[in-house]
Order: sequence, then structure tokens, then C-alpha cells
Amino acid sequence: MNVEMIPVAAAADPAGLRGTTAVVFDVLRATSTIITALAAGYRCIYPVSGAGEAAALAAGRGYALAGERGGEKIPGFPLGNSPLEFLAGPGDGSDVLVLTTSNGTGAILRSVQAERVLIGAVLNAGAVASAAWREKRDIILVCAGSGGRFALEDALGAGFVAEELVKLASGSLVMDDMTMAVRDLALYYRARPLAGLDLGQHGRKLLTMGREEDLRWCAQLNKYSVVPFFARGCIKALQL
Ligand code: MLT
Repeated sequence: MNVEMIPVAAAADPAGLRGTTAVVFDVLRATSTIITALAAGYRCIYPVSGAGEAAALAAGRGYALAGERGGEKIPGFPLGNSPLEFLAGPGDGSDVLVLTTSNGTGAILRSVQAERVLIGAVLNAGAVASAAWREKRDIILVCAGSGGRFALEDALGAGFVAEELVKLASGSLVMDDMTMAVRDLALYYRARPLAGLDLGQHGRKLLTMGREEDLRWCAQLNKYSVVPFFARGCIKALQL
């Protein structure tokens, strides 16, 4: 099995994902939010590119609406993109969520040509690696990046998944250089993932916005066994 990494989803050719299992990462914070929301009881999450499109979809069908731009909740949206906002689950509201974020939701949508699209983060690294391994196809680790640039936190999430894949494969894995590099990065940060998240450019920006609890949340290695998958426009939890 081959494992490759795409460092910035926006720069990748979506057609290159055909026939593969893609694992998409936007560790700060979209994919961490998606994993947390599904674990808390949301049933389906629609990733949407535009804020207007997201608002119209949610209003038309009575779905919950969440969105972020520049790290802030979109004005007029009930929910932002902090995983902590979703911890309590849908409550009396809709268990279907429409989500639009600066980079993460776009990276998921760009991965749609893969045979299987899984959603990864530090939070579910072990579980998503096992699920990808079981698919028995070549794996592409798709990092969302931030503003078209490489993001340390996505590389770290991909690295933790690469390390799990190495353990599962016992010698039969062929990794590209990028995957090898992020695996080493993950080994370096294994005992303190938060230090890696705090160091990256987007992590530092979120810290200046008072979002340290979000970083702390997203840095929890293997907190969840939830594996979200994207199919027919909607993200749901795989039944494991
Ligand atoms: C994104 O999609 O760029 C984000 O998840 C940004 C954030 O909310 O921190």
C-alpha cells in the first residue's frame, strides 16, 4: 500500500485522488469540530463553500448552521467553528448541521473524487488510520493548510495517522518523502501534541484570539474512535 501526503489541498489536482482513500485534515479546527460534533450526537454535517449557500441550505431545510471566517464566527450565524460549541450535541435543535469554514470544508469538497473520503485529526488519528487501512487502497493524506499555505497542525495530524499506519502495515507500507517527514514530526510531538499546535501560524493566531481551550481540545491524541466519512454531500460517522 502506498501512502502520499498533499500538503495544501487548494493546490492539489482533485483528479489525482481517483481510486484512493483520502483522509482530510484541518486540525485547527474544522475536522476536529466535525469529529466532536458527530461524537456528541449530530447525525449529518453538510460541508459548504460559501456562507450564503450555507445559510440558504440551513434556512430552507431547518438545519443547524455553523460557520467561520478568519477564525471568527460568521456574523448572523448561530454557531462558529469551535469544537467546544458542539460538545453538548444538538439538544432540541436539528441533528443535521451545515458548516462552512475558511479552508477545511473546501478541502473536504475538493477530495470528493477519492473512492472513499475520511475525516481525520489528532482527536481520532488511531481510528481513522485503522479505517483507512481496512479500505485496502492507496491512501492520500490531504492537509487543508491555511490560506493556501502549509499548516503545521495538519502535518501533525497526518503524521500521527502515518505512524499508526506503519504499525498496522508491519513493513508493507510505501510512504512518500512528505509522509515520512510528517511521521517523524509526529514522533517528535507524540508526548506533547499541544506544543505543536501552539507553534504553528494558525495556532498562534487562535491563541491571540483567546482560543487556547480550542487548541487544548484539538490536541487530545486518540480521544475519539469516531471516523467521519463524506459521501453524497454529507459527512456521517462510519459504523465501526
Ligand atoms: C478553516 O477551515 O480554515 C478553519 O477550520 C479555521 C478555524 O476555524 O480555525
